[in-house]
Amino acid sequence: MANAYIVDAVRTAGGRRNGRLSQVHPSDLGAIVINALLDRTGIDPNVVDDVIMGCVSQIGPQTFNLGRATILASRLPDSVPGVTVDRQCGSGQQAIHFAAQAVMSGTQDVVIAGGIENMSMTPIGSPMAIAEKAGMISPFASKEISARYPGCSFSQFDGAEKMAEKYGVTRDELDDFAYQSHMKGARAFDNGYFKNEIIPMEVTVEGKQVLHAEDEGLRRNATLQAIKDLKPLREGGVITAGNASQICDGSAAVLVVSEKALKQYGLKPLARIHAMAVVGSDPTMVLEGPIPATQKIFAQTGLSIKDMDIYEVNEAFGSVPLAWAKAVGADVSKLNVNGGAQALGHPLGATGAKLMGTLAYELRRRGGRYGLLTICEGLGTANATIIENMDR
Ligand SMILES: CC(C)(COP(=O)(O)OP(=O)(O)OC[C@H]1O[C@@H](n2cnc3c(N)ncnc32)[C@H](O)[C@@H]1OP(=O)(O)O)[C@@H](O)C(=O)NCCC(=O)NCCS
Repeated sequence: MANAYIVDAVRTAGGRRNGRLSQVHPSDLGAIVINALLDRTGIDPNVVDDVIMGCVSQIGPQTFNLGRATILASRLPDSVPGVTVDRQCGSGQQAIHFAAQAVMSGTQDVVIAGGIENMSMTPIGSPMAIAEKAGMISPFASKEISARYPGCSFSQFDGAEKMAEKYGVTRDELDDFAYQSHMKGARAFDNGYFKNEIIPMEVTVEGKQVLHAEDEGLRRNATLQAIKDLKPLREGGVITAGNASQICDGSAAVLVVSEKALKQYGLKPLARIHAMAVVGSDPTMVLEGPIPATQKIFAQTGLSIKDMDIYEVNEAFGSVPLAWAKAVGADVSKLNVNGGAQALGHPLGATGAKLMGTLAYELRRRGGRYGLLTICEGLGTANATIIENMDR
C-alpha cells in the first residue's frame, strides 16, 4: 500500500478558559497553525490539495465550515478547499486519518489536517444548550435511541466514573496520575521538548503584549495534596476538576503528504503513518473505545504493545488512560510522557493533531520506532494511529 507521511506538526500553546486565547477567533487560531506549516516546510501554498479540520462545537464562530473559513483567514489561496469533521474529541486525529487515506489512495498528495476549538468562545455543549433554548430537541430525543438505551444521557462525566469503576482505578491512582501530568508537562517545557511543536504567539493580557508559548493550564506549583483535597464532581465519585481534562482554547495541524510529494517538493518526513483504526464501543460507557481501538490496530498490524516505544492516550479524564493501560498491559512509564490534558488542556477538536505532534517529536527525540495515539470520543467511538519515526 502507498505510504502517507507527516512532514511537520505544529500547535498553539493552550489557553485557559477565558484566558489568553479566549478572544482569538477560531478561524484565526486555525490560520496560525496553517501559516506556520507553510513557513516551516516551505511548501508552495498552491499545491495544497485540501484542508481538513476537526471541531466539536460547530456553532457561532465555529460554524459554516470552519475548515474552509480558516483558509480564508490564512495565507493559503482561496482555490484551496476545506472541510470540517466531527469525531468528537478525536476529530483532529480523524482529520489526519482522512488526510492519510486521501494520500494513500492516490487522490491527493498534499493535505493539511488538524483541529481548532475555542472552548471559551463556544463552550462545550453549547450547540445543544443553545438549540434547546431555541426550542429544538436534543439529539438523544430520538425515539429509537431512547428505546435502545433507556435513561442514558451519554454523559462523559458518567462515562469517566464508569471507566474507573469497571477497571478498578482508584481515586489515589487518579490523583497521582493528575499530579504527574503537571510535573511531566513542567519538565517537558523546562527541557525544551515542546519547542518543535509550539508556535509562540503575541497576545494581549491586561493591555500588555506577552508571548504565549506555554500551555496556560499547566500548574508548575501543583501539589499532590491539593489535588487529593478537591471534591468529586459527583457525590461519592472519584472524578474531580484536578483529574479531568481542562477546558482549553487552541489549534493544531500537521502536513500529510504522499511519497511522490516528498520527492517532488524535497520534503523531509518526520513520521510515517503505519496504521489507522477506528471503532465504535458501548455508548453507555462513552469513553471505553481506546481499548478496542488499540486491540484492533494490533490485530491489523501484528504489532503488540511491547513494540510501542511510547503512547499518547488522551487524558479526557484520568480514568481513561489508566483503565486503558490496565486493559492492554501498557507500561505507564511510557504513557503521556510529557504530560497530558489534565495539565495542558484538551481543546476538543484540536487535541488529536496536538497529541500527534507531541507523539511524533517525542518519538524522534528518543530515537524510538513506533508510537501509538488513541483518543476516546463522545457517544462511544475511538481512533487509534501507529506512527513510525522517520528520523532514526
Ligand atoms: C472538570 C470541570 C467541570 C472543572 O471545571 P471548573 O470548575 O471550571 O475548573 P477549575 O479549573 O475552575 O477548577 C475548579 C477548582 O479546582 C481547582 N483545581 C483544579 N485543578 C487543580 C489542581 N491540579 N490543583 C489544585 N487545584 C486544582 C481550581 O483551582 C478551582 O478551585 P477554586 O474553585 O477554588 O477556584 C471542567 O474542567 C471540565 O468540564 N472538564 C472536562 C471537559 C470535557 O468533558 N471534555 C471532553 C472530554 S470527554
